[in-house]
Amino acid sequence: MHIHKLEKIWLTIGIVMLFVFLAVLGVSAFAMGVKPPSAHHHQIDPAKVTETEPFDKPGLHLIDDNKYEAVMTAFTFGYAPDKMEIPVGATINFIVTTQDVVHGFEIPGTNINMMLVPGEVSHVSHTFTKPGEYLILCNEYCGGAHEFMKTTIIVK
Ligand code: CUA
Repeated sequence: MHIHKLEKIWLTIGIVMLFVFLAVLGVSAFAMGVKPPSAHHHQIDPAKVTETEPFDKPGLHLIDDNKYEAVMTAFTFGYAPDKMEIPVGATINFIVTTQDVVHGFEIPGTNINMMLVPGEVSHVSHTFTKPGEYLILCNEYCGGAHEFMKTTIIVK
């Protein structure tokens, strides 16, 4: 069988690239320990959210200088805690889960947009550098009053 010279060159490049990609993947996975986030995810019994720490006491806690931890639960049709207030420049580490069905957790104007899945604890962190009223809203259809499901963070 005759293979054209250019075809041979491209075939060689293709095979070499394949081995380069496999080598990069192998080194990052086995030598550098790179894993998908699901390898160390945080789970909870969805039926016992309100009895499980820290979700038995949802709220905003000061953990360091201008750093907060917001322990939150979502339910049909709202979020706990209902309202939060922080100073400008503060960082919040959100720790959120749902007590019932799938809900959304979006803060328009930031890059926060999570899906809250029963049994899973979602984590995200954000620094609020501009004063104002930030809306947290549900963007996953969850029932009759889905469109009223929201809470606010006041930054001042
Ligand atoms: Cu919760 Cu839509």
